[in-house]
Amino acid sequence: MSTSSSSQPRAAITAMGHFLPEKRLTNADLEQIVDTDDEWIRTRTGIEERRILDDPDKATAYMASQAAEELFQKHDIDPATIDLIIVATITPDMEFPSTACLVQDSIGAQNAWGFDLAAACSGFLFALTNGASFIESGRAKRVLVIGADTMSAITDYEDRSTCILFGDAAGAVLLEPHDTYGLQDTVHYSDGAHADLLTLPAGGSLNPASHETVDQRLHYLKQDGRPVFRHAVTGMADVCVEIMERNDLTGDDVDFLVPHQANKRIIDATANRMGLSSDKVMLNIHRYGNTTAATVPLCLNDWQAELKPGHNLVLTTFGGGLTWGASYLTWAYDGAEYDS
Ligand code: ACO
Repeated sequence: MSTSSSSQPRAAITAMGHFLPEKRLTNADLEQIVDTDDEWIRTRTGIEERRILDDPDKATAYMASQAAEELFQKHDIDPATIDLIIVATITPDMEFPSTACLVQDSIGAQNAWGFDLAAACSGFLFALTNGASFIESGRAKRVLVIGADTMSAITDYEDRSTCILFGDAAGAVLLEPHDTYGLQDTVHYSDGAHADLLTLPAGGSLNPASHETVDQRLHYLKQDGRPVFRHAVTGMADVCVEIMERNDLTGDDVDFLVPHQANKRIIDATANRMGLSSDKVMLNIHRYGNTTAATVPLCLNDWQAELKPGHNLVLTTFGGGLTWGASYLTWAYDGAEYDS
């Protein structure tokens, strides 16, 4: 699916917030848990540490709400003015009610409706496109798009090939109409033919929870890393080149690449294909690992002081499904004014 339109109002990001749990899980910590070592993890993935939500009474809705609260406080926004909340997540607090409903109540957004969107690591970008459609059509004036995942809840800390990768976090952005800046174009793809490469096998209607599913550790994420890596390298680079060509952008025109943080080698390959130098690539995988739907808004939060109105951003993700995509966004506000 791809969209491109010039006649409608743009949907611009006008505020941001994020949440990171305090507990750090370092590569050295993981060396004590599974047969791995710091050097392997750093050279194969770029990850040095991740954050873990270490409170049995808190989960994804809590982190998403904290990110939204930070956004409201930093930008002096009344939660009652929010029309719609979309939470991208594959780790909802429970199957239902949706995380969006829990967030809506917790942040006091009494005039908002909302829903969850599940697209694994592509969740935030898919949610951004959805949220933008409500702004572009005039159906909403203020849409809160949140990417939040408690990956530690579905990570098997006996599986060294996956437990080194994931961390917990949430990032939130506010979308509002803008005459010029905002989401300019999107390209998204899904390919269910490779669904089995990255999956949470049990807990859904196909394999409901049972003693057997628990015994077989089927409530944990499974990944066939090598083929996912191959698909990710080509998928992410191809879709970024596609969106650049559609919009007549060269590497010189792109101010920042905002890539999903799954593996530094995938990000490097994508930046290379786009002709970007490393100073234009947002990279924080070493600090947080792969936080699934939270990676892209976390990057935007980390770089907000450097983002200036009119900057050209290419956002890109790749994840389970398989799902992938890219969005071309022109930045709408001076992040420095909110750098407090
Ligand atoms: N420590 C030490 N050795 C390890 C570890 C570890 N933690 N994990 C695997 N190994 C070993 C393997 O057993 C293997 O050994 P062998 O050759 O003797 O069999 C060797 O290292 C190489 O294993 P590979 O799986 O080929 O390692 P690779 O270089 O592919 O790295 C990784 C694995 C990091 C998972 C990589 O495949 C990857 O990044 N895949 C893509 C991840 C991704 O993009 N996912 C999508 C988003 S996630 C989502 O949507 C929820």
